[in-house]
Amino acid sequence: LKPVAPGRYEITQRVADVEILPGVRTPMWTYGGTFPGPTIESRRGQAITVTHRNELPVPTVVHLHGGRTPAESDGYPTDLVLPAGWSGGHGHAMPDPRAVQSRVTRTYTFPLDQRPAMLWYHDHRMDFTAPAIWRGLAGLHFVRDDAEEALGLPSGPRELPLMITDRAFAADGSLDYPSLDATLRERPGVRESFLGGVLGDVILVNGAPWPIHEADAARYRLRILNGSNARHYELEAVTDDGRRLPLVQVGADQGLLAAPVTHASLPIGPAERYDVVVDFASVPVGGRVRLLNRLGTGRTAEVMAFRIARPARDDSRVPAVLSQDLPSWDSPARVREFSFRAGPMPGGHGWLIDGRPFDPSRTDVTVGLGDVEVWRLVADVHHPIHLHLAGFRVLSRGGRPPLPHDAGLKDTVSLRPGEAAEIITRFDGYRGRYLFHCHNAEHEDMGMMANLEVR
Ligand code: C2O
Ligand code: CU
Ligand code: CU
Repeated sequence: LKPVAPGRYEITQRVADVEILPGVRTPMWTYGGTFPGPTIESRRGQAITVTHRNELPVPTVVHLHGGRTPAESDGYPTDLVLPAGWSGGHGHAMPDPRAVQSRVTRTYTFPLDQRPAMLWYHDHRMDFTAPAIWRGLAGLHFVRDDAEEALGLPSGPRELPLMITDRAFAADGSLDYPSLDATLRERPGVRESFLGGVLGDVILVNGAPWPIHEADAARYRLRILNGSNARHYELEAVTDDGRRLPLVQVGADQGLLAAPVTHASLPIGPAERYDVVVDFASVPVGGRVRLLNRLGTGRTAEVMAFRIARPARDDSRVPAVLSQDLPSWDSPARVREFSFRAGPMPGGHGWLIDGRPFDPSRTDVTVGLGDVEVWRLVADVHHPIHLHLAGFRVLSRGGRPPLPHDAGLKDTVSLRPGEAAEIITRFDGYRGRYLFHCHNAEHEDMGMMANLEVR
């Protein structure tokens, strides 16, 4: 996306027909007419503003996921931008005296005083985040700096963002979301098909179904986001002759690892990002490497393919030391525990944190600015838990050391069924009202979200 002036961007949210399936028009809710929305490229510590104009028929609010952002620009779920003709009241079910709403436009300020990373921006409207993202409100945002660029990792055309999402389509090409917005607002949460979240049977990478990318026989840096509402993947890169290429992880949600970690396959829950280098040098020209999903069946077991089109010279490298500024903390001021479970709530069943559904008028946790805390997160089923504002380290899972893919600084940890994990973080940055929640987007809409007040 080109700035309109240095550090200033404008995005119009509007309905657009997008060609997702070949030759078929799919009406979507878009950032700027495309899906994914335009990618924003920025530099560490150089603040930008993004003015969003809402020409959609519904209220919206933008959150920069992974951003270290002042609360007033963090996209709190009731801080809505109402469409011009909107007469539906506050646009959400519950009153929130602290909501800061605007009509048609809102300018968000992002200081981006944070480690280089691939972030993503998406809608965060209370009770309606899942259908809004499903309909298309998601885009990527890179933060870069000189130190990272000096490492010599694959770059230019050999650095590929891969936003992986699943969607379902109706016969006329429109997106099929198995609910009406109204149904979600009433929070029934009881429909079986809904409890696990909404899955699609078509896998999209950057908005294209099962794409084939023409690649050089060289190293590629894949910046992977699972932008799906609810689907988990376990990715592997497999050649035509059945070899699994090593996935060399160089970064996590919040930027570079201290040192590379090599995986044969990589689990990725909703909202997680992995920064991975794969080397195609051993693949003969004309051969293919398929990115597969070990958790899928039939076509959901496939994600995309690379066709090795030409031999190539490769000056890239993966240094043994990637970064030396990874924070690690000890001596937490507090240890807290939170449970993430299904349970009864008004109007049916919902997804709850410590037995309660989200309520914007309640403060669930108050932390001091600069405090180090350990949070123990306990899950009943799969829940990818995301914390706004602060990146964290995973300390343990199920009482054991973290898994290899838990390395680095994260903002989303994918809890497995029945699992408890401990994370440690320091709440720095800004004071104000933030959130933590499950990033299964349907779980989030059905209550699994809580308020975090940084004082
Ligand atoms: Cu990606 Cu609170 O969200
Ligand atoms: Cu977030
Ligand atoms: Cu969940």
